[in-house]
Amino acid sequence: MTNNPLGHLLREHLAWWGLRHFTSDREYFLWQRQQLSVEELNQLNIHADRKRTGDSVDERAFYDLAAHPRVFPVLYSQRYEYYEAIGLQAMAHLGKAQDILDFGCGLGILTTLYALRFPDANVVGIDRSAASIAIAQQKAKDLGLRNLRFICLDLQADGPFSGSFDLVLTTHALLQAEQDPGIPSESWRTFDRGHDPSQQMVFEQRTGLACRLDHLCQVLRPYGRMIVCEKTRQLARRVPFQRALAGRGLQLVQPADLIHYRSIEEVVEDGPFYVLSNGTQTTAAWSI
Ligand SMILES: C[S@@+](CC[C@H](N)C(=O)[O-])C[C@H]1O[C@@H](n2cnc3c(N)ncnc32)[C@H](O)[C@@H]1O
Repeated sequence: MTNNPLGHLLREHLAWWGLRHFTSDREYFLWQRQQLSVEELNQLNIHADRKRTGDSVDERAFYDLAAHPRVFPVLYSQRYEYYEAIGLQAMAHLGKAQDILDFGCGLGILTTLYALRFPDANVVGIDRSAASIAIAQQKAKDLGLRNLRFICLDLQADGPFSGSFDLVLTTHALLQAEQDPGIPSESWRTFDRGHDPSQQMVFEQRTGLACRLDHLCQVLRPYGRMIVCEKTRQLARRVPFQRALAGRGLQLVQPADLIHYRSIEEVVEDGPFYVLSNGTQTTAAWSI
């Protein structure tokens, strides 16, 4: 990536957002303690625990707190290499799109990058965290971006929204529910999960996946593309996730590969990066 000109653009963009790249836990946590007070760090930990085990109210409260201008550069510097990995992969597929939706855009760190890189495209970012959207709108203004709009909306609670996009992007926002066990295999010999449609339906509903995915499919134009990356490294989550995508007529445009990056010193293997279409001629095989 060192020689990739897009990599250079991406790093400049992350620096503009105040994010720093750390490869040592010791240095990162030293910096973290210099930037945030003990009380701020305690609040973050409390809200992060509630987000993991709680409901959508707890999740929204966490992202609202995380959007505080003192907090987000520190918190999201941990995701520096995540932004690099996803940003580069996504930009490779946005070139031809005219109308781009980034669902669950958060602060818009990557959304603003896409709008900068593709000035002829109209980009819309949606998120239910009001504090995140307020920051996103301010940053888009600071960057002078006229092709980017942010909307505060909860796709589940507020229902569908009007719009039509030839590219829908969603990363780490479709299948949050990190504690959800997915659909465990029925046999340790074959790893088979059976094909019980009611089990699949229950999984999609309890994680909120059904509602989010249905709404996004509604605003995707025929022959449109969807770019998706979720925490679905474990087969118990990946199998029903892929069934949910395929069940809505989405087909793989290219083989889906796992994403690798480091969260400071921790090596992370993330769910596959899917490039999908609702009407393509050239399809790749689903694999697990
Ligand atoms: C882990 S963050 C991911 C942010 C960004 N996509 C990224 O990859 O860095 C998940 C975001 O999805 C948003 N989100 C989750 N469910 C949502 C819903 N039903 N409607 C709107 N936003 C939602 C959250 O508020 C949060 O900002």
